[in-house]
Amino acid sequence: MKTGRRHESLIPLSREHQYGLLVCLRLHRGMENHRADLDWLSERAEKVIRFFESDLRMHLEAEEEIVFRAMRGIEGAGATIAELVDEHRNLARLVDRLRQHEDLRLAPLLREFADLLKSHIRKEERVLFPCYERNISPREAGHVKRRVLEVIGSAMKPKHPVLLE
Ligand SMILES: [Fe+2]
Ligand SMILES: [Fe+2]
Repeated sequence: MKTGRRHESLIPLSREHQYGLLVCLRLHRGMENHRADLDWLSERAEKVIRFFESDLRMHLEAEEEIVFRAMRGIEGAGATIAELVDEHRNLARLVDRLRQHEDLRLAPLLREFADLLKSHIRKEERVLFPCYERNISPREAGHVKRRVLEVIGSAMKPKHPVLLE
């Protein structure tokens, strides 16, 4: 996904989406060869949990508190936002289940997490963000830009590249 056409207030979130998609890609690719390899699965699970704590939790919060909130008055955005919030809860729940995993459940849990995170990011990039760009007022966008920078920074680089490897 290119950030070139994104509204500038959304660019840090879009950069983080790229990092999230990398995590999904590693999981989807690795799963083809390692689905029965418990060492590999545990290591991936550990990385997913650490990625959630270091990046994703704050990302989801920033979207809900800043972007979704700024879009409240936009007609037609409500249903998509409700779905996305639901997906945020499900992502957090899946990470909780990864923390308490029994080995046999790791592969399906990781797959479910990767499927959900990927489709979630796509929905934000293809549905929600374009809706934001069509409708947001310059004043709201200015507020979003400042707050996103305060909360997650520019996201020019992944915080912990090792988690994306
Ligand atoms: Fe999200
Ligand atoms: Fe997102």
